[in-house]
Amino acid sequence: MGRRGAGTIKVFYFTATGNGLAIAKAIGGELISIPRALKAGTTRYKDDVIGIITPTYAGNPARIVVEFLKRVDLDADYRFAVASYGGVMGNPIKPLASAAAAKGWSFDFTASVKMVDNYLPLFDVAAEREKKDQAAIGEALASIAADVAARKRSAAHVGVGNALYGAVGCLAYNKVAGPKVARESFSVSDACISCGVCARFCPAGNITVEEGQHPAFGDACLGCYGCAHICPHNAIHARGEKSAARWRNPDVTARELLDANAQ
Ligand SMILES: Cc1cc2nc3c(=O)[nH]c(=O)nc-3n(C[C@H](O)[C@H](O)[C@H](O)COP(=O)(O)O)c2cc1C
Repeated sequence: MGRRGAGTIKVFYFTATGNGLAIAKAIGGELISIPRALKAGTTRYKDDVIGIITPTYAGNPARIVVEFLKRVDLDADYRFAVASYGGVMGNPIKPLASAAAAKGWSFDFTASVKMVDNYLPLFDVAAEREKKDQAAIGEALASIAADVAARKRSAAHVGVGNALYGAVGCLAYNKVAGPKVARESFSVSDACISCGVCARFCPAGNITVEEGQHPAFGDACLGCYGCAHICPHNAIHARGEKSAARWRNPDVTARELLDANAQ
């Protein structure tokens, strides 16, 4: 290997339905789940290249990703961040950049990539699957991977509308949705067989399933909707969901999602 792409990479990712892990896989290197890294408690990572992958929630990065950046020191020659989103991007890189700035460094490269939207109250996953061309998404990921390999230095373009949506969305995500999201947002149907997959999956450790009982949600929900998407019996429903169709990125297995998030 020549200079281009030389060196080793660590990619830290958080993913509920696999889009983030598909991005991480496209980039390659050592792929590390953020919920697991937080659990391990390591406070310093060093590599030639270090990247962060987050989904976009209400125009912002997932809270757990910001928390991770605040907790760790990331020592690398080249640092990047990629946010996936489904509809309106908002400003998901900004809070990540602020967390980095508070630690005295900045990202060399940031990007956003539009993928299937997994927000059940607003999007019908079946329609999303039809609408979003997976081959085109694959090309977008390959382009991001090539940029990282070439150590490209640039920032994701954020227009005024996206910046505004990010600022407003931040208030909604942190102050309104916040911790109460699970109790108020989900219902469980009689299709539930108490298998406990939702509890094993939940990256916040916010779900418990007693034998023969429906899942009980605590107050630490991240609002990722992963429990509803991964339920093997399609028994967890979001209030006002557009359809019962669920999403898992085709490049990612359910086992990988469980391993990445299992608490
Ligand atoms: C609670 C929630 C809020 C979301 N908010 C936005 C949003 O504001 N803008 C957007 O484009 N996508 C939004 N999405 C869609 C996700 O960012 C998108 O589907 C992402 O690729 C999922 O990544 P994952 O599969 O790695 O979890 C939201 C999804 C959820 C669950």
